[in-house]
Amino acid sequence: MLPAVSMNSPTPSLIVVRSIQALDPSTSLDEEVDVVIEQGVITRLGRNAADQIAVADHGWELSGKGKRMFPGLIDMHVHFRDPGHEYKEDIASGLAAAAAGGFVHVCPMANTKPINDRANLTAYMKLKGKELSPVGLHPVGAITMGQQGQELTEMADIRDAGALAVSDDGVCVRSSAVMRKALEYARTCDLLVIQHAEDHDLTVGAQMHEGAISTRLGLKGWPRAAEEIIVARDLILAELTGARYHLAHVSSAGSVRLLRDAKDRGIAVSAEVTPHHLLLTDSRVLGYDTACKVNPPLREEQDRQALWEALLDGTIDVIATDHAPHSTIEKDCEFSEASPGLIGLELCMALLFQQASEGRIRWSRLVESLSQGPADLLKLPRPQLKVGQPANFAIFDEGMEWKVERSELASKSWNTPFLGQTMRGRVVLTMAQGKVAFCHRDFDPARE
Ligand code: DOR
Repeated sequence: MLPAVSMNSPTPSLIVVRSIQALDPSTSLDEEVDVVIEQGVITRLGRNAADQIAVADHGWELSGKGKRMFPGLIDMHVHFRDPGHEYKEDIASGLAAAAAGGFVHVCPMANTKPINDRANLTAYMKLKGKELSPVGLHPVGAITMGQQGQELTEMADIRDAGALAVSDDGVCVRSSAVMRKALEYARTCDLLVIQHAEDHDLTVGAQMHEGAISTRLGLKGWPRAAEEIIVARDLILAELTGARYHLAHVSSAGSVRLLRDAKDRGIAVSAEVTPHHLLLTDSRVLGYDTACKVNPPLREEQDRQALWEALLDGTIDVIATDHAPHSTIEKDCEFSEASPGLIGLELCMALLFQQASEGRIRWSRLVESLSQGPADLLKLPRPQLKVGQPANFAIFDEGMEWKVERSELASKSWNTPFLGQTMRGRVVLTMAQGKVAFCHRDFDPARE
């Protein structure tokens, strides 16, 4: 069987896409257009813009029928296990998964082994990424040395090596004094501070959300309060320091309330939500499926509804996958022994497309929260569908059906509760920085 993906195909000097529904919220574009890409740059875009263009043998001519084009996506929260646990994911497979999901920039978290708490590690990840793929890789440096919560990292050096943000994600910065200093230091470096909000004293031994289901299953619970206590404290510290504070993977309705209040008061805070917290609840843990073990845990329906509301009204700024690959060693075991986390890069768009097609979210808000939103928070240039811009886009085939299977994934891991499920809609082409980063095997541009 052919591989599901074909990475880094040579980029033709001319690509003509005819009659595609193109959407770019940053330029209010939402119409059927032709798009012409020459030498990796968008040179024409508009109704019938490609009428006069003939494509010679060396070029690609694509029909946009049944497809959508949108600006390349940005995932500001992924875990590539490189260095240290490359059997779960390395930078090559992580970037391949990103490209297959329509992403043109990703930010791998610092909980590698060793921890990315110094410039040479940041530089290693960045360099390796550059060698392997046109998808931009921006490592997130640790906030504290070894993610131990005590001594701050040299954030200025880490920034100079290529980081746009710092985070101890996986663990919370527990000390208020350390968090205050971290915010002050990050502010002088113009780095975004991403917090994993968890009061670890309240989650010792926790396996899932604390509620009726954890009681029924006899599993120790992770109460909402453990997140909300840290969020409340951090919002106070963000106001005090004026730093750019970002809350990772918000999971509870109470955190949403706190965020909304802080934003109403003009505090510079932002937040992300994951597709799994938008789509699943703790009831999925009833079968002890370790693929549903994640940190923070899947919560209850009222939390899920609050997360949707917050995403739609802008209280939550962006969607991030928290792509957390684990192998069968960490997942094919008792629930209490399993590592938390699930993969997200290759499923994100297909899962959320379904929500958009059911009217749960407008396409424009979906794309904004996955592209322009994270670009603005990270201070990256927005990927745009605009003449003169390098090609940074994804083409999504709305009708393509596919089954979530190991052989269909570019990621080295397949820890997802959606394994075995049939999806409708798939990214078939991703161009990043003017180059073809991913082309699905069934999407043969020469035949289109
Ligand atoms: O579920 C999670 N997995 N949450 C985290 O914060 C870390 C991540 C991981 O690294 O596996």
